[in-house]
Amino acid sequence: MTRLGKIGTRDAFDAAAADFAALGRHLWEPIGADAVSVASPQPGERVLDACCGTGASAIPTAARVGSGGLVDAVDISGPMVAELRERAAGLPQLHAHEADVTAWGGARYDLVQSVLGVFFFPDMKAGTRHLIGAARPGGRVALTIWRRGAMDPAGRQLALAVADVTGTEPPGERPKRPGDRVNQPESFSAWLSALGLSEVDVLVRERTLSMAPEVAWLLVTGSGYRGVLSELGPDEVDRVRERYLARLDETGLTDLDTTTLVGTGITA
Ligand SMILES: C[S@@+](CC[C@H](N)C(=O)[O-])C[C@H]1O[C@@H](n2cnc3c(N)ncnc32)[C@H](O)[C@@H]1O
Repeated sequence: MTRLGKIGTRDAFDAAAADFAALGRHLWEPIGADAVSVASPQPGERVLDACCGTGASAIPTAARVGSGGLVDAVDISGPMVAELRERAAGLPQLHAHEADVTAWGGARYDLVQSVLGVFFFPDMKAGTRHLIGAARPGGRVALTIWRRGAMDPAGRQLALAVADVTGTEPPGERPKRPGDRVNQPESFSAWLSALGLSEVDVLVRERTLSMAPEVAWLLVTGSGYRGVLSELGPDEVDRVRERYLARLDETGLTDLDTTTLVGTGITA
């Protein structure tokens, strides 16, 4: 089972949108705020926030660029964008767009950032190259990804819980994803350089998520993991919740590694 189960990225995040913001204060917002502090948007700057979700990085960025700046926040999921529009009502400099950002044709930006998004692109390299191309010459790019191993133990226990409940074969190790080749500081740095960025720097942001039962379940319903529930009926979802929480308990998974890598560089 992949992180998204059998449905696609957009459907998974459409379904997750309602709980995404609730999970936000535990997970997305601290990560977004940290990414923004590294990218350091300045008053008056034009910023592309790719894969913006409900605005964990786009909203603090809009506050920093101020009324003289602009943030184009782009997400492929309509419900995510609708939630962001509500949350950003007082920030007219933030423009929320429902679109596939790998085909976004917006103007040249001073800063292009994407937090926990690029590994969802069907062609991660081409999609990221497209984002880099949206920055003006000499512009900044800041991309946040999970460090290798982050999130996986929760995904594993969820996959096993689904197998327990549906009586299907327990899954083996999760299949490799393109992001796995670049999710260490050295490989991420080399990848960003190969994509044409200069002055590349990768920061490791160690963090953990405390897995109290309500947060642990929000992690499923308010993230891309939501996709694994898509084909289950309500009773099965209840049983998966029970089994998943029991498994976290049995395996002592009280603190989940949610470490990120924040990679920055300058375009030619
Ligand atoms: C893990 S969420 C992160 C959201 C936000 N950046 C944050 O940190 O809270 C990933 C987001 O990427 C979006 N996404 C995935 N592929 C996309 C694409 N091709 N174009 C635009 N958004 C995309 C999903 O809809 C989802 O909202």
